[in-house]
Amino acid sequence: MDISTTYMGLKLQSPIIVGASGLTDNIENSIAYEKEGAGAIVLRSLFEEQILHDVDEQRLNNMYGSYADQEYYAMYYSKKHNLTQYTNLIKKNKEALNIPVIASINCMSDEGWIEYAKIIEEAGADALEVNMFLLPAETDQDGEDKERIYLSVVEQISKTISIPFALKISYYFSGLANFINKLAMTDASAMVLFNKFYSPNVDIETERIIPGDIYSCKELNIMTIRWIGILYDKVNTQFAASRGIYDGETVIKNLLVGAQVTQIVSAVYKNGPKVIGEMISTLTDWMKRHNYNDIAGFRGNASQKNIKRPALYERTQFMKYFSDAGY
Ligand SMILES: Cc1cc2nc3c(=O)[nH]c(=O)nc-3n(C[C@H](O)[C@H](O)[C@H](O)COP(=O)(O)O)c2cc1C
Repeated sequence: MDISTTYMGLKLQSPIIVGASGLTDNIENSIAYEKEGAGAIVLRSLFEEQILHDVDEQRLNNMYGSYADQEYYAMYYSKKHNLTQYTNLIKKNKEALNIPVIASINCMSDEGWIEYAKIIEEAGADALEVNMFLLPAETDQDGEDKERIYLSVVEQISKTISIPFALKISYYFSGLANFINKLAMTDASAMVLFNKFYSPNVDIETERIIPGDIYSCKELNIMTIRWIGILYDKVNTQFAASRGIYDGETVIKNLLVGAQVTQIVSAVYKNGPKVIGEMISTLTDWMKRHNYNDIAGFRGNASQKNIKRPALYERTQFMKYFSDAGY
């Protein structure tokens, strides 16, 4: 039974990747993920916003007074410290693991994307995940303006690094399939569908906004299934399925609709590294029952392109004849 696969040109021992988060801050954890059978790990993102915030704090608490040179030194030190911490994280994971180590960045400025991508490549990461999320919240800005920013960042990154990179995106695009197709025509090797972001919730007692649950619920995976299923084999890229994958059955579903790999985060936070081994044994048991020797044998079998009633992917209304159709 061969559950190995490739992703962005990297060889993976399994299609289960531990996704971007603090889960891999601790090397012992990363080793446990590899032992349980993870195909790769993604490190938490290096956030330019966080670094700028830390730099600002340094300026506010500037113990040197407000002389420009010292202020510059404090800023420089704070930024360097953050970047060194991150490059050390890459190096430590690379030394301890045989599986690929994928780093991640989330930037705000053009300079940031270029500078951080370069630093990550130099630190030895096998690949980069570009965690990009621009909320289209401006009532007077056109969707295309935002899309241009994505395309420009991708272009700059592809000019800067030679390691493969994936784009981790949201679904907030007016023409999602069309825009993913445009992104697939760039030098990006893969796309992670979809990012889960910080979401606001409301506390009705205090009447204030509070952070929503940081962990996913299982239902979030349905959206991933729909879009990977629609786009598989129509768009020239590889998809990493993300959000709401808690068990082996859901891993199989995502591979069946066409995911190249799956990413898990909340499941590992809640159940520990052993969940990876459990997912793998569900996957291999299922492959045995269905007579598949490898993942290529069934990947995409349930995608829109390969099913008898492709309209099932585009149905959105609960009409009677549809729910009676026996599916
Ligand atoms: C505690 C925590 C930290 C995270 N940190 C990052 C991060 O640094 N970068 C990123 O791209 N995604 C981050 N994520 C999002 C996850 O990578 C993932 O996209 C999301 O949790 C959905 O997957 P899941 O349903 O398996 O949790 C984080 C998620 C959690 C719960």
